Amino acid sequence: MFKVNDNYLKLPGSYLFSTVARKQREYQAAHPDKKVIRLSIGDVTQPLAPAILDAMHAAVDEMGHAETFRGYAPDLGYEFLRNAIAENDYKARGCDISADEIFVSDGAKCDSSNIQEIFSLDNKIAVCDPVYPVYVDSNVMAGRTGVYDSTTETWSDVIYMPCTAENGFAPELPKQTPDIIYLCFPNNPTGATITKSRLQEWVDYANKVGAVIIYDAAYEAYISEPDVPHTIYECEGARTCAIELRSFSKNAGFTGVRLGFTVIPKELKSGDVSLHALWARRHGTKYNGAPYIIQRAGEAVYSEAGKEQLKKQVAYYMNNAHYISAELKKAGYSVSGGVNAPYIWLKAPNGMTSWEFFDYVLANANVVGTPGSGFGPSGETYFRLTAFGSYESTVEAVDRIKNMKI
Ligand code: MLT
Repeated sequence: MFKVNDNYLKLPGSYLFSTVARKQREYQAAHPDKKVIRLSIGDVTQPLAPAILDAMHAAVDEMGHAETFRGYAPDLGYEFLRNAIAENDYKARGCDISADEIFVSDGAKCDSSNIQEIFSLDNKIAVCDPVYPVYVDSNVMAGRTGVYDSTTETWSDVIYMPCTAENGFAPELPKQTPDIIYLCFPNNPTGATITKSRLQEWVDYANKVGAVIIYDAAYEAYISEPDVPHTIYECEGARTCAIELRSFSKNAGFTGVRLGFTVIPKELKSGDVSLHALWARRHGTKYNGAPYIIQRAGEAVYSEAGKEQLKKQVAYYMNNAHYISAELKKAGYSVSGGVNAPYIWLKAPNGMTSWEFFDYVLANANVVGTPGSGFGPSGETYFRLTAFGSYESTVEAVDRIKNMKI
């Protein structure tokens, strides 16, 4: 009789955003007359920028002619895209990352869940609390997290680093030494960020204790303040301790197009084993690359026209973020985030739990957000709104929340 991977059976409930979507569907089915506004999952709503569409159309045409048709992509991604990434995201910021240290993929969600495969099962992971659920769940599926305690909603073998209002939603160095540290800045879900000097402390710490940092920088395009690092490789010594995950979803609207990349510097080693070599082996064996058409679309993100158009798109979403933040503050809510990130993190009023407030906002304002407790125990009593809606629906959602009786 075959057996299943029973680590999957340890997972409590369904994936957070699936639960939220199910609740929205159920509410809508029961109240077909209500116009529900979704500010829950961080999914973009603006159409692809013209420079990107032009590149995709041209690539589609190439695929229709024998002379320009492409089959399997190179394992690590096409050089035209990896060169554009190395030049624009790293060299332009003074970071020493070369094109052959970049692995193109179909998105940061897959990379952030797959990367744990190249590490031993007895590594101890440390995560921010609250945290993007994929980091923890993928380690649960692998069997790395120990036993789940449903009272505290924590795993016995995971180090949780609370991010609270008291520490400005930035984690402190853990007391117990981890092997793998997941950091995400600008942060999902709190919208908080980290200064370069604080990130340097993490890099120094990881190099000192022999840990690896998995740095998720999916939201770097939203950074507006000068002392916030755009990449961990701005820090001295990051080449020997950090892997960086990047996405085209939030800066270029590729949530449905799918494109991302992972950077693994060649100096990053466990003993004399290169993580770059392990990830290259995995990529070669398990993955056939993002489609040519999509990689050409990714290249267009770095064209002059693409940069200009995407700057406007990011500004559009950040205008929503400022609106949500300012209006909810005026209405008396305690609000953070929304300055260097497209997420607003607000405290549920009157001692409500996150799910109580979720249900209350859905029923009374017909707005869907994401309950903070779904991201971890320290997210309890918080609620996340995304700035990725249209301006009109964002204004309407905020007005409805402001007008709710609390
Ligand atoms: C979120 O809402 O947290 C994100 O959209 C999730 C993701 O990017 O996968």
